[in-house]
Amino acid sequence: MPTPVEILRKKRLGNALSREEIAAFVRGVVDGSFADYQSAALLMAICIQGMNREETRLLTMEMAHSGDMLDLSGLSGPTVDKHSTGGVGDTTSLILVPLVAACGAKVAKMSGRGLGFTGGTLDKLESIPGLCTAMEEKRFLQTVEEIGCAIISQTGDLAPADKVLYALRDVTATVDSMPLIVSSILSKKLASGAQNIVLDVKCGSGALMETLEDAKALAQMLVEIGNATGRRFCALVTDMNQPLGMNVGNALEVREAIEILSGQAGGALKEISLEIGAKMLELAGISGGRQKMEAALESGAGLKKFAQMITALGGDGRVAGDVSLLPQAEAVIPVCAAEKGYIGAILASEIGRASLALGAGRLRKEDSVDPAVGIVMTRRIGEWVDKGEPLAYLHVTRRSNVEAAQALASRAIALSREPVETPPLIYASVEGKCV
Ligand code: URA
Ligand code: CA
Repeated sequence: MPTPVEILRKKRLGNALSREEIAAFVRGVVDGSFADYQSAALLMAICIQGMNREETRLLTMEMAHSGDMLDLSGLSGPTVDKHSTGGVGDTTSLILVPLVAACGAKVAKMSGRGLGFTGGTLDKLESIPGLCTAMEEKRFLQTVEEIGCAIISQTGDLAPADKVLYALRDVTATVDSMPLIVSSILSKKLASGAQNIVLDVKCGSGALMETLEDAKALAQMLVEIGNATGRRFCALVTDMNQPLGMNVGNALEVREAIEILSGQAGGALKEISLEIGAKMLELAGISGGRQKMEAALESGAGLKKFAQMITALGGDGRVAGDVSLLPQAEAVIPVCAAEKGYIGAILASEIGRASLALGAGRLRKEDSVDPAVGIVMTRRIGEWVDKGEPLAYLHVTRRSNVEAAQALASRAIALSREPVETPPLIYASVEGKCV
């Protein structure tokens, strides 16, 4: 068995680690035979020296197998999943999961909670009265088989090596490393069991990757390494230079998802949801994805699946037909334009922080979130606003820091005298060959 010190020295000198060395590291992270300071030192060495493709693939596989691997092979129909690198007003999962299920694919989805200024699908779902995202594995699989989809919090112990490593990366300035990001994201997706996975790599002010070049490089690496594990992956690089939906905040985002699923709202969130969903169907071998998604929207089949899923999770399925059953803010306060002009920029990160100040998110893992609060935007980049017109509405409760949110929201939105071009929604599509 290679020792931690030998493995550390080898990577420090810039050499490629072998399968045996990578396996010893990942095992050591989980069983404690690698001390935290040794793991942290190796993370720093990887961050500086990098890893080649084969090392990255091996690290991904070892991390995926470091805990439970969900087995979805008993489900009838192709299994699909998606993953977003995280954004603001990104409610795509709540829209596309029921639509994709209505088109014949099986979605057994495990989601996360929000941390910092990006929202978490579980927090959004749990704003629905009665709903609980904890579900035992057997019932989870039964629910997916019966309804076609379910979104729950993680069951079992998936990719425990990533939990340890991610916490260490966070405090050692080693988050920012391509092989570490790729292995972290892919290991969790592989452990979650789906055969076909679409990655939504966000690009812009509110994203993990701010530049198009970085976002494309990450998407390409994710797809390449993902396909080398034997599953089918593809990726879209999509815009996060402004919030994706018009609503930011837990119950507010559920409301927008329901409005889209019932045909009452459209826009960028709907468009991206349909495109990602179509990719999921395509990967799963279901032809005519986009038309089928639109038909499921039109007929109400997606909304029906959504209601069934809510009910299966213990929630009040009537919200699908009556959004007034969702938690409501105590007051709604407009943020008005100080000048007239075209909307030049809406910094998604600052809108996310404003929503956080109102109580919609958490700074630390143990914080609780307020389901009712958040922000409803009235404009998108390129649109005109007159002086004094509302740019956004803050949905607040007694506990909200309204002043901080007002300052952040005003600062997030920049006005321009000249017409402004609207940014594209999708920058690139990365298809992979299965190898
Ligand atoms: N998301 C993850 O899950 N891991 C990373 O390393 C970065 C983003
Ligand atoms: Ca330890």
